[in-house]
Amino acid sequence: MASSSEPAAKPHVLLIPYPAQGHVNPLLRLAKALHLRSFHVTFVHTEHNHGRLLRSRGTGAVEGADGFRFETIPDGLPPAAELDATQDIWKLCEATRRTCPGPVRELIQRLNRTEGVPPVSCVIADGAMGFVVHVAKEMGLPAYLFFTPSACGFLAYLNFDQLVKRGYVPFKDESCLTNKHDGGYLDTALDWVTGMISNIRLRDFPTFIRTTDADDVMVTINIKQCELDAPAADGIVLNTFDDLESTALAAIRARLPNTFTIGPLVSLPPYLPSLASSLWKEDSVCTRWLDQQADGSVVYVNFGSITVVAREQMAEFARGLAGAGSPFLWVVRPDMVRDGGETSTPLPEGFVEEVAGRGLMVGWCDQEAVLEHRATGGFLTHCGWNSTLESLHAGVPMVCWPFFAEQVTNCRYTCDEWGVGLELARDAGREEVVAAVRELMADGGEMRRKAAEWKNKAEKAVAVGGSSKGNLERFVKEIARVNR
Ligand code: UDX
Repeated sequence: MASSSEPAAKPHVLLIPYPAQGHVNPLLRLAKALHLRSFHVTFVHTEHNHGRLLRSRGTGAVEGADGFRFETIPDGLPPAAELDATQDIWKLCEATRRTCPGPVRELIQRLNRTEGVPPVSCVIADGAMGFVVHVAKEMGLPAYLFFTPSACGFLAYLNFDQLVKRGYVPFKDESCLTNKHDGGYLDTALDWVTGMISNIRLRDFPTFIRTTDADDVMVTINIKQCELDAPAADGIVLNTFDDLESTALAAIRARLPNTFTIGPLVSLPPYLPSLASSLWKEDSVCTRWLDQQADGSVVYVNFGSITVVAREQMAEFARGLAGAGSPFLWVVRPDMVRDGGETSTPLPEGFVEEVAGRGLMVGWCDQEAVLEHRATGGFLTHCGWNSTLESLHAGVPMVCWPFFAEQVTNCRYTCDEWGVGLELARDAGREEVVAAVRELMADGGEMRRKAAEWKNKAEKAVAVGGSSKGNLERFVKEIARVNR
């Protein structure tokens, strides 16, 4: 207890993202919002990602700011052979859960002994690092979980245990895995799932359920996160807004009442821009190139930070984009195509030269800036939740080509519920790419009108009096209560 004459210690929040790009970005945004509201902030990277941040920025240290520090913990994986490639998400989930509790506990103890640093008063961890809740609780600290997927995606994860109990998962054999829309096992209707669109199917559930293994690591870990970790947390934070996902949110709140919807976080005003989180070096030519293009004319293509594409599929996209006729900006990560586990040149020979002038390929970009640019008229996306929300926030309609996890759920909602997307088949050939891109870029379409509507609703949610703004301030108030 502080005596009445001692100044009150600042609340000190420790934020621990899951170590992948799509998880680090939104949590860093929340961290900055808390710093702006007078919190002392410690943000925890893995040693591996810390090294990548140094390389992407060409500096010797990841600088913090006054009252904003970065710390590192090991991720439990052996040193990576390819430093700039995305780590194996499956192995990373298993390794962090097994090895990180100790380092997190030691970090909190060390911070609490550090002179000039207020004691840690609250922990916010990514839902995929849900084990942190139990460490915090053992140490008498309040703990919150930030689940980075959409509410519809999170609700699907919350139903994994039911899929197992009702015998849908594991799949009985490999024949169930076929992805064709031919009335096969993946097309099974799941109309008993409360809170999801009425005609939801197995194929719309996060792809981790597509397993024949009763002990599958991702099914087991996701059930643990929902059954053990989330209910033990003091509250749940979601990067979405109430208007967008009201039905899914009602079902989530029936199970986890203290759920704060504070998105889209991308709408928070720029603050501490030097504290960046890109794990790849951003290419600086994109804005200059976009500046030379007509309003709404460019198709932006980006499959996020994890997607790996077969070489043949890349060639179909390349031919399709070249054939569709619109100028395009395509982000092709250097590790996007893997042959026999090795990364290799992802694009067909001669393609870059062939499309010079009307197509720009870069390794990584400032996606927010690209989506907000007046020249960007459509987004061919893998439906990662950040990308989906950033596109909704910018009012840009989408062609959806989901890769894995809850991206398939986001795709279903983007196309059928929110009316701003067209689904492209997983094995789409060049003609299908041409057709989808042409439809996307057609003027005055219904999708464009809907996208403008969602942009407007997203802006209202984060404005004064809006649901997300109110929830963020309520969340801040709740976690600012320091035990003194
Ligand atoms: C994945 C999942 O798809 C997502 O739904 C889940 O919640 C987190 O893990 P990822 O493949 O990284 O994420 O995609 P996404 O969620 O869209 O996140 C990518 C982030 O990187 C976005 O914030 C995007 O703006 C940023 N990005 C991507 C860039 O800044 N530049 C790029 O070139 C590509």
